[in-house]
Amino acid sequence: PGVGHHGPGRNAGPRAARTGMTSPAFTPFAARMPESRVLAPVTRTSDTDIYQLSVRAKTIEILPGYQTPVLTYGGDFPGPTIRARAGRRVKLNLRNQLPQDVNVHLHGGHVSAANDGYPTDLIPSSAGRVYEYPNTQQGATLWYHDHSHGTEAEHVYRGLHGLYVIDDPGENHLGLPCGRYDVPITLRDAQFDDTGAFVWGVHPGERDVTLVNGKPVPHYPVARRKYRFRFANAATERVFQLDLGGAEMIQIGSDGGLLPAPIQRTEITLGSAERMDIVIDFARYPLGAKLVLNDPRGPVMRFDVTREAFDNSRVPDTLRALPVMPPATVDRHVSMTFDLSSEVPLGLMDGKPFDHNRVDMRIKRGASEIWSLYNGDTEFGITHTFHMHLVQFTVLDRDGKPPTLDDAGRKDTVFVAPGETVRVQAHFDSEFLGKYMYHCHYMEHSSLGMMAQMEIVP
Ligand code: C2O
Ligand code: CU
Repeated sequence: PGVGHHGPGRNAGPRAARTGMTSPAFTPFAARMPESRVLAPVTRTSDTDIYQLSVRAKTIEILPGYQTPVLTYGGDFPGPTIRARAGRRVKLNLRNQLPQDVNVHLHGGHVSAANDGYPTDLIPSSAGRVYEYPNTQQGATLWYHDHSHGTEAEHVYRGLHGLYVIDDPGENHLGLPCGRYDVPITLRDAQFDDTGAFVWGVHPGERDVTLVNGKPVPHYPVARRKYRFRFANAATERVFQLDLGGAEMIQIGSDGGLLPAPIQRTEITLGSAERMDIVIDFARYPLGAKLVLNDPRGPVMRFDVTREAFDNSRVPDTLRALPVMPPATVDRHVSMTFDLSSEVPLGLMDGKPFDHNRVDMRIKRGASEIWSLYNGDTEFGITHTFHMHLVQFTVLDRDGKPPTLDDAGRKDTVFVAPGETVRVQAHFDSEFLGKYMYHCHYMEHSSLGMMAQMEIVP
C-alpha cells in the first residue's frame, strides 16, 4: 500500500489505490461535539470588522489517544467560525506560517475578483494578505477554505476549512432559534493510519471516520426545545445522506440562505460543499431521549436530550421572498468528465483541464443565464458537485424532471449524478467584473483540472 502516504501526495482521482486499511477504532458517541469557536474581531470600525488568522500546522488529538498533525486556521480544527453581519464589511488578515503557498476562498461569498482567492493568487510562506468581503448579500451559511490550485484538496483535507455565517438583522423578526441555539455543524471524513496521522492520496471511499466539528461520531447534549443547525459538508469528496431514524427535520435554509418557506424533511442529502439549515424540535422527545443522525455508511452523531429550556423561538410559515430573476437570455452547456487515458487522470470541464491563461466563458454583467450541467462519467459511475463562484443559482430541473427537495432555495453548489443533466439558472447581478471559477467541488477532481473560469464583462 502506501500511495503518497504521509507527505504531500498525489490527488486521489478516480483511479486512486485502495489500501484496505482501516483507521484505529474509537467508541462512537463518546466524544462531545464541540461548538466551533467564534472568531473575535481584533478591531471594529463604524462599518468594518477586522479579523486576523494565521495558517499554521499543529498536532491535535482527534481520535482518543492519538496525535494527528493537521493544518489549521488559527490553531483550530476545523477553523474558527467567522460571524459576519449583513451590511458590515469584513477584512480578513491572513498570515501564512506554513512552508507552502496557500490562499483563501470565501465559498458562496459575493466578493470582488481580487479577493476571491483565485487559484494562482497565492500567499507565499511567511507572507500575509488582507481579504475584503463586503457582505452585501443576504444572511447565509458560507464557508472559507484553501483554493491553491493543485493542492486545494490536500490542504482542505488536512484542515484548511472553516464556516463563515452572515447574520442578517433583517431576519431577526422571524424569531428563528438563535444565539446558543444556532449551532454550526461541519461534517467531513478522514482516514487515519495506525499512528493517528491522516492518510492522504488513497481512494476517498476508504475514509472511514466521520468527523463532526472535528470529533469522530460525537454526541451533543441538547435541551428540550428548538435548535437551528447549520450543516455544512466540508468533505473534499463525499455525499452525506442524513436521517434521524424517520424523525422530522425542518429545512429552513440552503447554500444561499433562507428558503421561501420551511420544508418538512425526514432525510437530507448534502454533497461536498453544500450547506443546509435545519431546525430540530427536541421538545417532541422526553428527557433522556437519544437521537442518532444516520448516514448509509454509519452513524454520524447523536443528539442527547438532557435538560429543559425555555423556548420562544418559532419557525414561521413563510421565511423570505427570493430575489426575482429576470428571464434567461443565454443558454450554456458544461460537461464534467475525466480523461483516464493519461497516467494521472485529468479532470475536464468541456473536455479541457483548467488553464488559468484561458477564459472559458465571457458573461455579460447583469445577464440571466441557464446552464446545463452534464456529468459524463457514466462508465465508472463517478458523481460530481458543481460550484459556481460569485453568484447563486436556482435548480430548474434534473434530466427534465422537477428538482428534488435537496435542490430547494438559492444554491451555489449542486449534486450531479453520473449521466445526469442538471439545469440551473443564475443571474449575474453582482457589481463585480473579472475572472471567477466554476468547477467540480470534489476537490480531488478540481485539483486534477476539473475547473474552468468565466470572465464577467461590462
Ligand atoms: Cu468552495 Cu471554488 O470553491
Ligand atoms: Cu467531480
